[in-house]
Amino acid sequence: MRGKHLCVLLVAMAVCLALGAPALAQDPDGPAHAGTAGLTQAYVESLNPNNPHDFDTLRLLGQAIFTTPFNRQDGLGDGPYDPTEWPPFALGHRPTLQNNDTTFLRVNGLDAQSCNECHVIVSHATRPPTLGIAGVGGVVQQAIIRPTMIDVSDSFDDRMGYLAGHTPDLPMVPDGVADYNGRFANPPFLFGSGGVELLAKEMTEDLQAILAQALVATPGTVLQLTSKGVDFGYVTNVGYQQVELDLEGVGPIEPDDNNPAPALVVTPFGRKGENFSVRDFDRGAMQFHFGIQPVELFGDDDDDNDGHIDEVTEAEMSVLHFFGVTNPPPVQGPKDAAAHHGETLFANIGCADCHRPVMTTRSKKLPLAFPEVPTDPRANVYAQVDLKKVGFHGAGPGVAVPLYSDLKHHAMGPRLAETFEGDKPVANDEFVTARLWGIADTAPYLHDGRATTLYEAIEQHGGEAQTARDNFIGLSAGDKSDLVAFLKTLHTPGL
Ligand code: HEC
Ligand code: HEC
Repeated sequence: MRGKHLCVLLVAMAVCLALGAPALAQDPDGPAHAGTAGLTQAYVESLNPNNPHDFDTLRLLGQAIFTTPFNRQDGLGDGPYDPTEWPPFALGHRPTLQNNDTTFLRVNGLDAQSCNECHVIVSHATRPPTLGIAGVGGVVQQAIIRPTMIDVSDSFDDRMGYLAGHTPDLPMVPDGVADYNGRFANPPFLFGSGGVELLAKEMTEDLQAILAQALVATPGTVLQLTSKGVDFGYVTNVGYQQVELDLEGVGPIEPDDNNPAPALVVTPFGRKGENFSVRDFDRGAMQFHFGIQPVELFGDDDDDNDGHIDEVTEAEMSVLHFFGVTNPPPVQGPKDAAAHHGETLFANIGCADCHRPVMTTRSKKLPLAFPEVPTDPRANVYAQVDLKKVGFHGAGPGVAVPLYSDLKHHAMGPRLAETFEGDKPVANDEFVTARLWGIADTAPYLHDGRATTLYEAIEQHGGEAQTARDNFIGLSAGDKSDLVAFLKTLHTPGL
């Protein structure tokens, strides 16, 4: 490993020298991610992921970004608060806390120095816990997303202009509810993300193909939007080469019958299912957690006015993406008789309707593109990752992705609903079906880590999952424990 690290460093240094290393500002410490500073997208594209040496180089460069504790010399933190910017909590312009120079805020991001600070637990079930890179986080690592009010003391304060989660007309009374109008999210792991991204891309291709078919069909034709056995609603040709969309559980973009393609993008990443690729998620993560602005979003503009440009380059985001999609997938441990029985129950009582045990890809190759086009995963492809080389298996040309999810959004009922009051691309009670692979190791559960056991997580299901949940509650104590025994065979990789 050491040799490989050195090799990557030498490559990076050579690239640095060729381009001229960035001048250090006054702080003699310099930036923390200097090792990848001169990396170019052309260099990244010149590497071939099918060559084991190049594969390791790309992965280690990406891992370096994922584990770098960024500092102010890298552009960590937002620029000076600007009261003319609106909204005042917008990324790049967040207020400062106790004169800390807009480095950390903790609420609404600016909450860490490295990605791995939060994605750090590989198993919470072992003693001691297994720590590592790209794992889950506990409650202390949760993201507190865009609140403008957290009433932790359940006060009467009239300055709190609204009552998130309450009937709007209720007077503000101490009622045991700490009113809160943001999101609170538990960090999932990044294992097996390559398989998830390829499934989503193939599903997007299928939906786009059905749309194309509908556009040229005879008026009145209704086509079902189905991919890999998952139904996402209907598209109807309404004449004049126009369609009407009637969607179910796909993507965060509102259907627009005049521009239908963007709404037909499968978005598995983030607990709300808001992002179509790992890179798409990562772009937001860089800004939210670190105040680090990707060049691919801002060009040479110092949008946060912190005196740094090129905070994270296209090439650095490419290797970070590569790292994200080459993490090995979770594994299924041996099943005893109880777990076998639990697996049958899981299917019979309706859990598997959403938590689909396995979905298969057509190809084993995950296309990596830059710039990415959400509606067309085959546009601008610069490399293809062979998922069989990262631990996926499959008999045919594709790979099996044993994810226990349909990658679809579901309304989960009022108990699980968030009280977020900001712009909502996905409704408060809607989440993408949690992937249960690895679940034995990843407590706490549910989007905000509220469930400390698997039993609690199942019991909290409502909305579209109410019937399956009620079926579970109606099982005998022995059957319940068999079902949980089955879930406990689903492990994170390496254990
Ligand atoms: C403060 C903790 C924290 C830090 C730091 C952090 N993350 Fe996360 N990460 C989260 C949380 C919380 C979620 C779930 C967010 C949601 O559902 O909206 C998440 C989700 C993700 C996902 C989506 C995973 C999935 O399967 O849906 C990816 C990818 C990811 N993070 C990558 C990164 C990268 C890359 C960085 C560094 C640039 C990073 N994270 C830094 C907390 C963190
Ligand atoms: C209608 C679709 C649907 C059905 C049916 C369903 N689930 Fe879920 N499940 C979800 C969604 C969506 C989430 C994420 C909810 C959240 O994060 O708040 C989830 C979360 C979970 C979690 C927590 C995962 C984690 O990583 O935190 C477990 C465990 C789980 N489900 C088990 C089950 C079992 C067992 C059944 C059958 C009794 C079942 N589910 C039925 C959609 C469903």
